[in-house]
Amino acid sequence: MKTHRIAAIPGDGIGVPVTDAALAVAAASGAQLEVTRFDWSCETYLATGAMMPADGIETLRGFDAIFLGAVGWPARVPDSVSLHGLLLPIRKTFAQYASVRPHRLLPGVEGPLRTSGFDILCVRENTEGEYSGAGGRVHVGTPDEVAVETAIFTRAGVERILRFGFEQARRRQGRLASVTKSNAQKHTMVFWDEMTEAIAAEYSDVEVTRIHIDAMCARMVMAPESLDVVVASNLFGDILTDLGAAIQGGLGFAASANINPERSAPSMFEPVHGSAPDIAHLGIASPIAAIWSAAMMLEHLGEAEAAARIMAALEATTTRGIGVTPGKDRTDTITKAVLTAL
Ligand code: IPM
Ligand code: MN
Repeated sequence: MKTHRIAAIPGDGIGVPVTDAALAVAAASGAQLEVTRFDWSCETYLATGAMMPADGIETLRGFDAIFLGAVGWPARVPDSVSLHGLLLPIRKTFAQYASVRPHRLLPGVEGPLRTSGFDILCVRENTEGEYSGAGGRVHVGTPDEVAVETAIFTRAGVERILRFGFEQARRRQGRLASVTKSNAQKHTMVFWDEMTEAIAAEYSDVEVTRIHIDAMCARMVMAPESLDVVVASNLFGDILTDLGAAIQGGLGFAASANINPERSAPSMFEPVHGSAPDIAHLGIASPIAAIWSAAMMLEHLGEAEAAARIMAALEATTTRGIGVTPGKDRTDTITKAVLTAL
């Protein structure tokens, strides 16, 4: 049996306990894992002036996968510093261009909607678009100040994320919703639409719809069961996946994978939620999103059976009513219940 080498970056706040929980469950799932922990965090920044060592990226490159808890402690380090010093460079340098985020209700979890029958897979572009980081400010602090942030959509970048979306749709219910805003953004989003149409020609088995981001927000609330795979740019996908988290019961249930589909570098798995400094020391962070993310990691590593066992254990836990109400059960209680179910 293959041993998978995992780099664990628990990070800040609740990232630490949920990473412990996820790795404990992963270790009990039947897969062979060798975990190396890196304590890179805002503490590291305050002590050394950098979120990770200068050779941090090269260190991570040697692993089969990365598991990340959460990054950020805005009271002491600005988010723009902590995220651009750790999470975002990993996603970009390792070409983890497909952010995959499943949105469905675990059994026993009551979301805010009247319907429970939805199963959405959001595929978010993760390396360019509106979050490329291209831009700048001039005349800072004067009345003439100008701030520019340029969205960058490359043919290669758009094509690869759309293809990834089509492939996911093909493996699921065969429906793809491509999120756009070409009625207002006449360069980037018209290009996005043209690329969607061109690639659709190769996937005649996939039913494609084009939907503007504003209408998609309404659709995810009013008729989420009408959606299968949703593919979106970095900004649109970021926003939609918080909406997806909300309809599945909250951020404590939202898992994610940052995938490098070509496997030219490790992929990274992390819950969608952040470090939640306000509840970090209360012991009540839900480990469910992190555990679900660990299942996605094992799936990516070819351990489909271990991943399925974890998902079954999570579902058995929520079916018993454990972990279904945010803030009610302690992190340890939920983790123990999942381990027992395993
Ligand atoms: C997410 C987060 C990050 C993002 C932030 C923390 C930079 O909101 O993973 O969705 O926007 O990608
Ligand atoms: Mn987000």
